[in-house]
Amino acid sequence: ATIRATVLAVVAEHAGQEGPLLPILHAVQQRLGWLPPEAVVTLAQALHLSRAEVHGVVSYYPHFRLQPVLGAVVQVCRAESCLSRGSEALHAQAQAHAHDVGGCHVESVYCLGLCALSPAIAIDGQPHARLSSQRLAALLDRLVE
Ligand code: FES
Repeated sequence: ATIRATVLAVVAEHAGQEGPLLPILHAVQQRLGWLPPEAVVTLAQALHLSRAEVHGVVSYYPHFRLQPVLGAVVQVCRAESCLSRGSEALHAQAQAHAHDVGGCHVESVYCLGLCALSPAIAIDGQPHARLSSQRLAALLDRLVE
């Protein structure tokens, strides 16, 4: 599907919802991986907003990406159960790896539904639970091979 068709399909799914901009942006990013300029333009037209309004919202939230991601998306859970089992250190480790080695992009998420197996992360949507720093390092190293 084209970017335009994808955006319009998401808008149609949210028809009748009040204040739909944020959920629509989330859904579009989930499908496209980022928010290309064409998606912002199409969305503005479809919701009768100005481009500047949509762009303002997109740039306000660090979650939204205005550039495509290079490499894998590493989501580190930073909600309560994972936090209590050391996810801050895993997050820092993943960020350092992304910065020094590359091959991935690190995001924070707040619960992956694996609290019983904390700490948890997901790499390109695939969950990894009961993570140690060593296992994380091994998973990250595999990304650049
Ligand atoms: Fe991390 Fe639920 S708190 S998976």
